[in-house]
Amino acid sequence: DWTMGDYAKRSIETIRAQVGDGRVLLALSGGVDSSVAAALISKAVGNQLTCIFVDHGLMRKNEGDEVEAAFGGGDLNFIRINARDRFLGKLAGVEEPERKRKIIGEEFIRVFEEEAKKIGAVDFLAQGTIYPDVIESGTGDAAVIKSHHNVGGLPDYVDFKEIIEPLRLLFKDEVRRLGLELGLPDYLVWRQPFPGPGLAIRVIGEITEEKLEILRDADFIFREEIAKAGLDRDIHQYFAVITNMRSVGVMGDGRTYDYTLALRGVTTTDFMTADWARIPYEVLDRVSVRIINEVRHINRIVYDITSKPPATIEWE
Ligand code: XMP
Repeated sequence: DWTMGDYAKRSIETIRAQVGDGRVLLALSGGVDSSVAAALISKAVGNQLTCIFVDHGLMRKNEGDEVEAAFGGGDLNFIRINARDRFLGKLAGVEEPERKRKIIGEEFIRVFEEEAKKIGAVDFLAQGTIYPDVIESGTGDAAVIKSHHNVGGLPDYVDFKEIIEPLRLLFKDEVRRLGLELGLPDYLVWRQPFPGPGLAIRVIGEITEEKLEILRDADFIFREEIAKAGLDRDIHQYFAVITNMRSVGVMGDGRTYDYTLALRGVTTTDFMTADWARIPYEVLDRVSVRIINEVRHINRIVYDITSKPPATIEWE
């Protein structure tokens, strides 16, 4: 698509002119926006860009490695911080959703700050802010329903002179087209939105390694079957949630007492309101059978049929 190609060329020139021989720092979350920003800035200034990817251990199955595969070993300086134990340590025993978010937000800043200090003073802090973010923060008086922890927004804790936001004028679909133009892999460009606090808010109640592992495996199967059914672009966000509830089931000759897993799928244009996705029964059935057979400690699966409002998309 030549218009996007043109746009990419021009922004690369602009970034080059602005950055000169300065150094740029970017917090890379693996989401579409920060990934495209990283690819763009890296095309412009190569290894003058350093990306810090704070892996909080709350990503979906394989996701951390996918981010590393896309950005490690290339031209830019890519640093992956494995901070799983730190995050899980801080979250141990915490059940309350807002506390989870707060802890993760604060720990993220701490880890990022420590790494940034090692790098020393940088000239520019880059962010993957896109046009809808600009609008939202402009009106910014909507009641805070959930404190959104955005891996993008952290100016205060790093020593830098200027901020660069090369995606500021783009809508999401344009960001994706730009990402493809820059040669990013499909799985990154078409990644569905994933909350900053990650799976922490999809494990209801206390977060344990065991629950995280169950959730990762179940969520992976759900996503795989949705993709196989060709529904991955029609359902805007879909994921599994491990509830804090156990119930009685039967397996072979034995009684089980295991977790209930919830599946959530929504269609939406702006994520402010959403409808639950009418996933065909056959697809739900395949997902259910596979999860029960392949993932231990789940003996019951429910599908969330509430829209937003009154429910939110995430469960916490
Ligand atoms: P809710 O659950 O509020 O979610 O209906 C709306 C959209 O926002 C995502 N979400 C987040 N994104 N940090 C983020 O970057 C967060 O803390 C956060 N919480 C929710 C959610 O996945 C959905 O797309």
